[in-house]
Amino acid sequence: MATFRIKRYNPEKQPESYYEEFQLDIKPGMTLLDCMNEIKWTLDGSLTYRMSCRSAICGSCAVKANGHSLLACQRQGAHLVKDDETIVLEPLGNMKPIKDLAVDFKPFWDKVDKVNPYLQPDKKAPKEERKQSPDQFRLIDDSSTCIMCGACYSDCNMLEVDDNFLGPAALAKAQRFVQDSRDGKTLERVKYLSKPGGIWDCTHCGECVERCPKPAQPFHRIKEIMTVALDQGVTNNNGARHALSFAKLVKSSGSLNENIIPVETVGFFNIKGLFDLLPVGLRMFFKGKNPPILHKSIDDVEDVKRIYMELDE
Ligand code: FES
Repeated sequence: MATFRIKRYNPEKQPESYYEEFQLDIKPGMTLLDCMNEIKWTLDGSLTYRMSCRSAICGSCAVKANGHSLLACQRQGAHLVKDDETIVLEPLGNMKPIKDLAVDFKPFWDKVDKVNPYLQPDKKAPKEERKQSPDQFRLIDDSSTCIMCGACYSDCNMLEVDDNFLGPAALAKAQRFVQDSRDGKTLERVKYLSKPGGIWDCTHCGECVERCPKPAQPFHRIKEIMTVALDQGVTNNNGARHALSFAKLVKSSGSLNENIIPVETVGFFNIKGLFDLLPVGLRMFFKGKNPPILHKSIDDVEDVKRIYMELDE
């Protein structure tokens, strides 16, 4: 027997959300979605959520359970019961609830649309199908498993503070076309994805990888787009400059020179960007937190250089 603490919301009846508790005997083998269905069918028919396939295929049933997003049909109910015998269910994050556990996916789909999620080949269609080798397909294999459930979008820390960020799902979808050997718009795509709100705004927290119920693993796909962008020479932006400066400084001294990295990130000739750095630089100086002017290499810097050399080879 477990207590389901479910966040309820019905703006037609009252403007604020509230939690309601339901007791349910979780029988062996019941998924979380089975439990939700049991509550709806036997205890309260007004409980609202989305579901369809019940097989972790359609992506409809993503909710937050005990604070983290997951697919309700993919997880055993009993495994989610906390020590205090409760399961807390809430709507996905970073999207507005419509009713109970159903949220408005419009911002999610708008961002997926922005990455042009379809093939744009530059050659005329051949008589037969456009072929790919197994190695070419492997580059897009993981991202093509995405079921657009929104679990990554819900728990993305960056989206919580910046609505403009495209988000992990749209970026994973973008990688599926950036690295598709049949697509002819790679350069245009990575140029767009390198703009503010794109790949370089990811904070590398890895939460999307934790929450993704499939091998799509958005953060790894974002890193792959970054690599393509650098290979294509799309480096005239803060994110790429930051990554290149980071790699160069570690290679030369074995550690980061925090005096140089912000300057190289905004660009030496970016007068406005450099002026924007001044307030934080001055604050650090007056609080005694500025890094030493003379930057020393670490003792084992030769080992670091050898690692770079092997990677280059
Ligand atoms: S109901 Fe389709 S993924 Fe859960």
